[in-house]
Amino acid sequence: MNELAGVLPEMEAEYDTVLVVDFGAQYAQLIARRVREAHVYSEIVPHTITATELAARKPKGVIFSGGPASVHAEGAPSIDPAIYDTGVPVLGICYGGQLLARDLGGEVAKTGRGEYGRTELKIGADGGRLFADSLPRDQVVWMSHFDTITEAPDGFVVTASTPTTPAAAFESVDRGFYGVQFHPEVVHTAAGQALLERFLYEACGCRPSWTMTSIIETQVELVRAQVGSARAICGLSGGVDSAVAAALVHKAIGSQLTCVFVDTGLMRQGEGEQVVETFRRNFGIDLVHVRAADQFFEKLEGIIDPEDKRKAIGELFIRIFESSAGGLEDARFLVQGTLYPDVIESGGGHGGQAATIKSHHNVGGLPEDMDFELVEPLRALFKDEVRTLGAELGLPDEIVWRQPFPGPGLGVRIIGEVTPDKVATLQLADAIVRDEIRKAGLERAIWQAFAVLPDIRSVGVMGDERTYGHPIIIRAVTSEDAMTADWARLPYELLDAMSNRIIGEVPGVNRVAYDITSKPPGTIEWE
Ligand code: XMP
Repeated sequence: MNELAGVLPEMEAEYDTVLVVDFGAQYAQLIARRVREAHVYSEIVPHTITATELAARKPKGVIFSGGPASVHAEGAPSIDPAIYDTGVPVLGICYGGQLLARDLGGEVAKTGRGEYGRTELKIGADGGRLFADSLPRDQVVWMSHFDTITEAPDGFVVTASTPTTPAAAFESVDRGFYGVQFHPEVVHTAAGQALLERFLYEACGCRPSWTMTSIIETQVELVRAQVGSARAICGLSGGVDSAVAAALVHKAIGSQLTCVFVDTGLMRQGEGEQVVETFRRNFGIDLVHVRAADQFFEKLEGIIDPEDKRKAIGELFIRIFESSAGGLEDARFLVQGTLYPDVIESGGGHGGQAATIKSHHNVGGLPEDMDFELVEPLRALFKDEVRTLGAELGLPDEIVWRQPFPGPGLGVRIIGEVTPDKVATLQLADAIVRDEIRKAGLERAIWQAFAVLPDIRSVGVMGDERTYGHPIIIRAVTSEDAMTADWARLPYELLDAMSNRIIGEVPGVNRVAYDITSKPPGTIEWE
């Protein structure tokens, strides 16, 4: 795979593009998203990119991201110095700003005093190009650094400072170089987005053309060009990515698309019906609905080990998907809801697409010998863009804002053997948890909220009767990307409402517990 060639060269040809050079922290994705919010297309590239490779992609601007290293450390990531001679404007942020300062003759020093968190920034009399006159002269910015930029390179103007960082912002408008020690991409830097926009529009001359309407138009054209008059199939999981991909491809090729929805019986309450309702009735999409719950329950009989469950569910899913798609022999294309972060994580840009079938877009991943060409219309998009796109295409809120859901479904939220009765119990409890979260207006603030059914029973008393029933565990987490997560500090009243309703409405459940484990050390799911 050639990650330097761009994830979607067609996008770069269509839109003014800004490349974000990744210096190894979490910041690059956030910067790229902020650039897109300013309606400018952006992609992330590794810092090993050469000047020739960079110039070949004709970017309107380049942003160096922050990073965890010290520019003084041996082996610290650097950049091909010839990039400074390409004439492309550069904005260096934090580590990127230090690198820019050092490479061009300024000074980065260990002052012995770092700055972390909120910091007062004083903008000089001449705010230069990055700070519009209209912005306040004293601003709160977010800092996170140890080394600091003490001197801007010769010929540069220092436009802002803090008590610890004499050259907190510096620029040379003539040469097109800009550096800031703080992080304009984080929300705590109040005027950060305005600063980024001034770089994009004023310094780089970018046009704000990356809009949802335009993305839809471009993708519709690209999908038509790729598929021609052939047939395509798309596996729907009920999740937002495959739903948006299907809606977009349907807009492009209409009845040439057939969707396959394998209902495993392990989905959330009402989810299967909603997929059918939305795609068949509202969109008029040709939909093969396979009701396979019985087959899954039979296959899961006696299986307790989590990985054995995943494997069993995954294998059966593939078999059923294959045999349903078997009636579509003439289908040459397979639509997948691969997103830009998936592409970044698998270390790949354009090319080698066949290798990028992601297991988590289907229950267990499709076998590699399925002879399809992939159509991945969301390959260049971040999750928030996919949601906006879904809404624009007319998908209902429940699908667009659906929380992530594991491919093996409720199968990995039932500890021990999976049976139809346990699934019914869990579906009821899970629906209550999600309903209460929605009523509390927390749906979008919580990454995932769900119920877990463990394989134990405990004693209780209801009315005058002794009970010996199952507990339900409520799990709710906040997260940015599911790699790490914090247990959500849900209000007591909300937990109380969930507990009362679960005990009152779900037969066989006599106790409710709340999981207060973060990830790590816990995982989000229980299995
Ligand atoms: P964990 O439990 O590993 O979950 O913290 C991280 C994220 O991945 C989802 N998840 C899965 N998704 N197949 C999937 O498609 C799986 O087997 C699977 N296991 C976990 C989980 O819901 C969370 O969003």
